[in-house]
Amino acid sequence: MSEAEARKRITDLTEKINYHSDLYYQQNRTEISDQEFDRLMEELVLLEQQFPKLRLPDSPTQRVGGTISKEFKTVQHQYPMLSLGNTYSQEELREFDNRVAKGLEGESYEYFCELKFDGVSISLVYEDGLLTRAVTRGDGVRGDDVTANARTIRSVPLRIRAKGIPTAFEVRGEVFLPKKVFEQLNKEREDIGEETYANARNTASGTLKMQDSSIVAQRKLDCFTYFLLGEENNITTHEQGIKKLESWGFQVSPTYKKCRNIEEVFKYIDHWDSRRHDLALDTDGVVLKVNDLSQQERLGFTAKSPRWAIAFKYKPQNASTRLNGITYQVGRTGAITPVAELEPIFLAGTTVKRASLHNANEIERLDLREGDHVWVEKGGEIIPKVTGVDLSKRKHGARPIQYITKCPECGTKLIRQEGEAAHYCPNEKGCPPQIKGRIEHFIQRKAMDIDSLGERTIDQLYVLGLVKSPADLYDLGKEDIMKLDGFKELSTKNLLSGISESKAAPFESVLFAIGIRYVGKTVAEKLARHFKSMEHLMNATYEQLLEAPEVGEKIAASVVDFFKDKDNRMEVERLKKAGLQFESTHKKPEKVSDVLGGKSFVVSGTFENYERDEIKEVIVAHGGKVLSGVSGKLDYLVAGENMGPAKREKAEQLGIKIISEAEFQKLLKG
Ligand code: IVH
Repeated sequence: MSEAEARKRITDLTEKINYHSDLYYQQNRTEISDQEFDRLMEELVLLEQQFPKLRLPDSPTQRVGGTISKEFKTVQHQYPMLSLGNTYSQEELREFDNRVAKGLEGESYEYFCELKFDGVSISLVYEDGLLTRAVTRGDGVRGDDVTANARTIRSVPLRIRAKGIPTAFEVRGEVFLPKKVFEQLNKEREDIGEETYANARNTASGTLKMQDSSIVAQRKLDCFTYFLLGEENNITTHEQGIKKLESWGFQVSPTYKKCRNIEEVFKYIDHWDSRRHDLALDTDGVVLKVNDLSQQERLGFTAKSPRWAIAFKYKPQNASTRLNGITYQVGRTGAITPVAELEPIFLAGTTVKRASLHNANEIERLDLREGDHVWVEKGGEIIPKVTGVDLSKRKHGARPIQYITKCPECGTKLIRQEGEAAHYCPNEKGCPPQIKGRIEHFIQRKAMDIDSLGERTIDQLYVLGLVKSPADLYDLGKEDIMKLDGFKELSTKNLLSGISESKAAPFESVLFAIGIRYVGKTVAEKLARHFKSMEHLMNATYEQLLEAPEVGEKIAASVVDFFKDKDNRMEVERLKKAGLQFESTHKKPEKVSDVLGGKSFVVSGTFENYERDEIKEVIVAHGGKVLSGVSGKLDYLVAGENMGPAKREKAEQLGIKIISEAEFQKLLKG
């Protein structure tokens, strides 16, 4: 394909894909099938790889990430990012209002009220309608350039299509993780035996600063915008700015309201006090801004914050209640979670009976004693927290809580690895919640997807001694199921056919389902694609595992350990006999050209524009061959960053051409 042809096709594809994805994400509608959409996307990805310079600034491929930044560039904000003064009290809010009234010398004014979103603030710079820079707040004067990561956020427009927009403007907003996404993420971490994240805000902040934008893309960050800045916006009020943002396609939370005086502001605050808990994201207060921009200018700033705006923060609701005891939960991986059993107490709309204490360190930090009363708090987040001990109620001589030393379920002595916060029950093979947990993990939707099997049925199957491991499920017969409470002819048939249908689940789902520690769904997909079959994966060495994308030392060691275990190998063998999918069906992309015809390549190190697997696919798609080791027959060694010195040395000795990523891309152009 000539460069001119490629330019035209890339422009067409970009427009088409952007049209369909706007339709999908903004209007919940589709006009083409998922497969057709994926096909267009795949074509664009390949063309952009072949002609990287032709990639358009609003290319939809950026939504899925792929850039690895070693360190973020520090850049200066055009307008400093100030913070807001804040208060928890109505009196102070009235005082703020008095200061505004005085500053405006009797002129009338209005407030524009918004919720205070609990996320990470961001500055988005647009030039000629294109998102050119996204920067974190940093110290307010300078922040980190996180543009590649921000581009993966679906609600951040890459290009503004509206007519008559200013040549340059800046938008401020809050990047956040929706509560549901946060819960899901924590569930996934639990699935692979990782510690869960404490709250959505810190997780959003950590995600925005991740170095691999393709992982950021998977995290599903979201963004609400609340400020329009610039010299040519033609607006006289904050409200007009907000309306412009809405009409240009930015996401603005519809919770705002214009208030004519401070009494109306109080009403707004009351209105959202409890309702805010039903929103998709955490909020911790209300922000009020003087609406008129010239009035804002007259009021000006203190050293740190504007005199025309303030945040009113909702007090986290708290109460003291008796700690009746601590129970200990055992997870699928054997991790122990201590839970505070509380005297039930009504707090911010719900009755609280239990709260997680996370681990032994937390109990120590709180210095919990037997019979204590504790402070329980419900803030912007919905899960209650134990924040401290109500010392006024502590009994003299109360004994410190002794953390358990044995598993509450099977009595095995607990272990705690150095550097880990959690205690573990090491009795993987015999501890009931671990066994049942593995089966629950195996059947979940992302794994084998046996939805006719629930937690209660698994419990019964376990208690009756019918199922002790996932492979036992495939040996179940009609007479076994009929023994279970509540199972009749039809429900038995459904359950058995659900189990049988699961045999068609793809290899990557099987790989996730067998529950190798640290192998979540994404890693399972990468492993399946890289190793192609269970057989290859089982026999892979630690070093070979490290070569797979997204696999680091921790995962590689865990996979090796898993397959070293005789019982695990036997279980996997039984699953194979049962007829589960043990081979990847991932299709190679179709042949694009033959410019690399007859040439052989070894790929080593990491690349800026490709994942290692991807670059191999590109080679094959262009007629080349990929070899695994350097030998005399090899034509090219494609050297990425951090390539092992041994490979380079060998290639040099054999006089093999070593080429960079850029040189490789030149080869593709023929
Ligand atoms: S306006 C000069 N509006 O709160 C004032 N901020 O302490 C600029 N925030 O850094 C901020 N929701 O990260 C504004 N509706 C909202 C907000 C909001 C959350 C955050 C923002 C800011 C911090 C101020």
